Amino acid sequence: MSEKIKVLEEKIAEAILGGGQNRIDAQHKKGKLTARERIHFLLDQGSFQEMGQLVTHRSVNFGLDKQRFLGDGVVTGYGTIEGRLVYVFSQDFTVLGGSLAEAHAEKIVKIMDLAMKNGAPVIGLNDSGGARIQEGVVSLGGYADIFYRNTLASGVIPQLSAILGPCAGGAVYSPALTDFILMVEKTSYMFVTGPNVVKTVTNEEVSAEELGGASTHSNKSGVTHFSCKNEIEAISSLKKLLSYVPQNCEEQAPSAPYTASNEDRPGLNNIIPENPNQPYDIRDVIEGTVDDDTFFEVHKNYAENIVVGFSRLAGRSIGVVANQPAVLAGCLDVESSKKAARFVRFCDAFNIPLLVFEDVPGFLPGTDQEWNAIITNGAKLLYAFSEATVPRVTVITRKAYGGAYDVMNSKHIGADMNFAWPIAEIAVMGAKGAAEIIFRKEIASSENPAEKHKEKEGEYAELFAHPYNAAARGYVDEIIKPNETREKLIKAFRMLENKVDNLPRKKHGNIPL
Ligand code: HXC
Repeated sequence: MSEKIKVLEEKIAEAILGGGQNRIDAQHKKGKLTARERIHFLLDQGSFQEMGQLVTHRSVNFGLDKQRFLGDGVVTGYGTIEGRLVYVFSQDFTVLGGSLAEAHAEKIVKIMDLAMKNGAPVIGLNDSGGARIQEGVVSLGGYADIFYRNTLASGVIPQLSAILGPCAGGAVYSPALTDFILMVEKTSYMFVTGPNVVKTVTNEEVSAEELGGASTHSNKSGVTHFSCKNEIEAISSLKKLLSYVPQNCEEQAPSAPYTASNEDRPGLNNIIPENPNQPYDIRDVIEGTVDDDTFFEVHKNYAENIVVGFSRLAGRSIGVVANQPAVLAGCLDVESSKKAARFVRFCDAFNIPLLVFEDVPGFLPGTDQEWNAIITNGAKLLYAFSEATVPRVTVITRKAYGGAYDVMNSKHIGADMNFAWPIAEIAVMGAKGAAEIIFRKEIASSENPAEKHKEKEGEYAELFAHPYNAAARGYVDEIIKPNETREKLIKAFRMLENKVDNLPRKKHGNIPL
């Protein structure tokens, strides 16, 4: 027996060493952790149970028979984070560049299938040169097996992807199908075709970092939801993210302990400037309302004219969507509509109530917006809110103009409770533009058109630039003082705790993609 145990111990040691000490050192030199170190920092101490440690590839092509590493370049298994079950795969770049082929894919598929059956999140730690070139079509098949499962698992269990090294070619599509992507600055990149192909096809000179690094994907493309300074920050963000979400679509997110106290927030009375055209940072409103230090922003550097993120209200997990008057005056545009729609759909899929702060002068005008399909993209947000059945509450802090009033979780599209602050302006359009259109002839024929325009603008503003018409029709349930907001929201979400709402029977809707 002891001889057999010795053999086992040797095999485990071999598996743990992966591509060898030199390769591990090279990984560290690049500022990267190894696959096992990442799991060590991610999971509760001692909770990791590895699966398939001794799996190897079956290929003999191109000398692969002499390069058969135990584990085949990916560490897979399950463990806990804060005591909650998660499944994890962690690609090992020190083994054949973390490349994916038949056996490697089978290991990932195995934990994805278990995650689905047991209703727990899957976390992918990606660090791979992509499809293993020597193994041919089985590498492509392996990817497709994963993509298929990513799609079936979407909306059933949370799926998180951290990109901690290369992620190129078709390999990008598994993370893209998951709920959230995190990247690390300078050491990770994602692209469908790399700089060399780009140069050949389009003659553009671009570095890997510029083409698909963390800053590109967090600012320009929006592919990544988080750009982290280093791997430890990425791993902490994964854990934080999970703390706001349930294990699966049948469960509620965990609540934090909360003791009721004085909920009055006088600071909220002084955030909005007197001049309605002056910007302010909506984060001050969010942070002044929710539980202390609980706002966790998602997609922070992308489409900054809308702010989305998770938070807690009286200990309960909520998703926050808020127009940001400090950027583009808070107008909705193509990117912000897509960003918010995706977030709303995630929250709805996983039973996370939605809180909306609205201050929106309308959709952003311009050829750029029209030619990039603001019609289709704006409709995404409209659709996402309309089909969301989770508890939904809106606070109109200032402007709610035009189609954007409808889109931003209005009562008409199914919001449960809508509040407005007394300075709210709810109308078809701003007074200046409205006066210009409906009093055009009167203004043109007057002796002093500028003065006339001002007078008519004033008339329109008096009639419409306030929340009382909306309140008179019940489109707003209550006009509240800003300092009362937190208390009102706690009560509203408590009232909605057992909300049940069903969509009409259908196979699935057809969101305007
Ligand atoms: C097999 C691979 C590999 C791959 C890397 N390696 N990528 N082996 N298949 N796809 C091996 C290398 O041969 C090398 O082995 C080791 O991993 C480390 O790679 P290096 O090149 O030394 O590392 P580095 O300089 O850091 O460069 C990393 C890299 C580069 C940029 C990722 O390796 C690279 O360009 N790889 C190929 C990327 C690629 O074209 N992948 C296919 C994409 S298409 P040795 O033994 O020499 O140390 C695709 C299709 C999927 O993925 C379709 C799904 C639908």
